[in-house]
Amino acid sequence: MPLLAATFIEKEVRVANHKIAVIRGDGIGVDVVEEGIKVLKAGAKKYGYTMEFTEFPWSTDYYFKHGEMMPKDGVDTLRKFDAIFLGAVGHPKVQDHVTLNGLLLPIRRSFDQYVCERPSVLYPGVKSPLAGKKPWDIDLVVVRENTEGEYANVGGFQYRGQPEEVAVQTSVFTRRGCERVITYAFELARKRNKKKHLTSITKSNAQGYGMVLWDRTFQAVAEKYPDIQTQSLLVDRACMDFIRRPEQFDVVVASNLFGDILTDIGAVITGSLGLASSANLDPSRRFPSMFEPTHGSAPDIAGKGIANPMAQILTAALMLRNLSEEKAAQAVEASVQKVLYEGKVISPDLGGTARTSEVGDAIVGALGAPAR
Ligand code: NAD
Ligand code: IPM
Ligand code: MN
Repeated sequence: MPLLAATFIEKEVRVANHKIAVIRGDGIGVDVVEEGIKVLKAGAKKYGYTMEFTEFPWSTDYYFKHGEMMPKDGVDTLRKFDAIFLGAVGHPKVQDHVTLNGLLLPIRRSFDQYVCERPSVLYPGVKSPLAGKKPWDIDLVVVRENTEGEYANVGGFQYRGQPEEVAVQTSVFTRRGCERVITYAFELARKRNKKKHLTSITKSNAQGYGMVLWDRTFQAVAEKYPDIQTQSLLVDRACMDFIRRPEQFDVVVASNLFGDILTDIGAVITGSLGLASSANLDPSRRFPSMFEPTHGSAPDIAGKGIANPMAQILTAALMLRNLSEEKAAQAVEASVQKVLYEGKVISPDLGGTARTSEVGDAIVGALGAPAR
């Protein structure tokens, strides 16, 4: 059967070629993406697949030149890629709602990236600001709803600039939106197979419509997962528990805004925002997912060459996992952990003196990729 034979051979020899759209963005995004690509290239060499990087200069500098953060057909251009690798967006000279609503947020919404997955892990070699925490004591993942809720971009101004000016900002919670992100979180708790525990976080004592719908949906979905223990917390109490007993959390599911806030707490209790990876996922895989760390463009250290690239590099590992390069993903994570544990090449946010590029080089070194 020649046809079958041909199919077989094709399967055997085909090497995945991942097409990656790269948007470095602003501030430290430019530097940390450089290190992310360095590690991705080394990983590709070692694990035998190829990656094709296409750079887009979309950023606030682009906005200064063109009056927009990305071209009108920017989203369409990105559609054909396997994944988007992004640094950070935000510039002190332009209001954030302009830059973020011109680039990052429309991509999340247009590509229906309804899950934002953000792990917080206390790695060996890293000191938590919380007393008495040992490596791995903190090992949680926040699943943040990423396309609606408080970020729905519904509202407006009236009587703009007048004393009687009114601003309306509406949260939008849909049953389908709640159900799909909560289901994702339950599946993740099952797949992680750690504490098999899921915490849902709302503020339904004060937000009596949208978040009540969320709570009801959580209870309904929970019935399908009897193997997963659950709890529902109010967000104020949850902030407290993230600090006083973060080890109790396994998977956490939260609305867009609460997930945003909780993940900065998750980052700092595990050492630094410079370690906090993040993935904006379209689990249906209709569209490319986008991989950008939790942190922003950090204008206070931009251009100094001292940003920690580990968050971006761990984000690259999440991208590799999403592209089914599991071995490479694990190797990148292990290399970051090795560099942290050895404690020789550590950036200033973690108490060291290493520069951004030195940390990237050390991680490439730990990966043990062939030189050519
Ligand atoms: P930020 O995350 O940029 O910085 C917060 C603090 O953490 C700063 O002191 C910064 O120096 C430090 N930090 C962050 N990342 C670091 C790293 N990799 N290494 C070492 N230190 C690091 O938050 P911010 O200052 O509130 O925001 C700055 C800009 O970034 C704003 O314009 C904001 O809107 C934007 N922002 C963008 C994203 C994104 O693009 N995904 C995320 C958050 C904030
Ligand atoms: C994040 C950021 C963004 C968010 C901002 C920059 C719009 O803080 O990715 O955590 O709130 O989603
Ligand atoms: Mn944030």
